[in-house]
Amino acid sequence: MSVATDVFSTTMPRHIAIIMDGNGRWAQKRFMPRAIGHRAGVKSVRKVVEYCAQNKVEVLTLFAFSSENWRRPESEVNLLMALFMSSLQREINRLDERNVCLRFIGDRSAFSRKLQDKMREAEQKTQFNTALTLVVAVNYGGRWDLCQAAQKVIDKMAQGTLEKQPITEELINAHLSTAGLPEPDLFIRTGGEQRVSNFMLWQLAYTEMYFTFTLWPDFDRRSLEEAVKSFKGRQRRFGHTGEQVLNKTVTL
Ligand code: IPE
Ligand code: IPE
Ligand code: MG
Repeated sequence: MSVATDVFSTTMPRHIAIIMDGNGRWAQKRFMPRAIGHRAGVKSVRKVVEYCAQNKVEVLTLFAFSSENWRRPESEVNLLMALFMSSLQREINRLDERNVCLRFIGDRSAFSRKLQDKMREAEQKTQFNTALTLVVAVNYGGRWDLCQAAQKVIDKMAQGTLEKQPITEELINAHLSTAGLPEPDLFIRTGGEQRVSNFMLWQLAYTEMYFTFTLWPDFDRRSLEEAVKSFKGRQRRFGHTGEQVLNKTVTL
């Protein structure tokens, strides 16, 4: 009989996707404005990126601004945009030095021309970097992603650049904003809420979910290690039985 450790995935997740939640509550707990929480959250981003680059995680996706976050007070939306812009300007050289490839997913058309240019520049500057792909989801929604993929397929078929064919999972995958990336292995949501909030709806189909009460600005290396430890202790089955996985009669 196989030993129990065979059951567990001992490998690092290839792709970690994080909903960075709890900045506002972190600040409010300290009787400070929400803005301070968002600023403090940037430090956690640095720590998590560093950990992933050092531990050979291939892809890290961070949900920074959802397609629904426009519903927040205008002052908070403006602050988040300004913070996004300044962080991008400040961090890009450091990321490039660390060999991190930056990629943005989400509907950019809502952003200022200047911010869109900065995003494109950052992507171009880091496009050949290989230590880690850092995907930042901004003005991103899982439903938006599916709609834009379907639209792209329809447009290509109408223009004749894509042969008329049945819709398959592969076809959708190839037109999602995450095309070419492995699906997330580990999903983390900080801040205590146990919901997906319109993040990567399609891509999370077989992702291992991890929820923690830790607020995003408090999330550090050790918190991430805890999440990875939890991931490593799980048996992923993808529809097979536990025995099939255990006896390695199937490839996952
Ligand atoms: C997450 O923190 C950051 C963004 C959504 C941009 P929140 O701002 O949602 O923090 P809470 O959930 O109000 O504490
Ligand atoms: C999800 O957090 C979006 C990001 C972290 C960017 P929210 O704070 O917006 O989610 P809800 O509104 O509590 O579901
Ligand atoms: Mg929140």
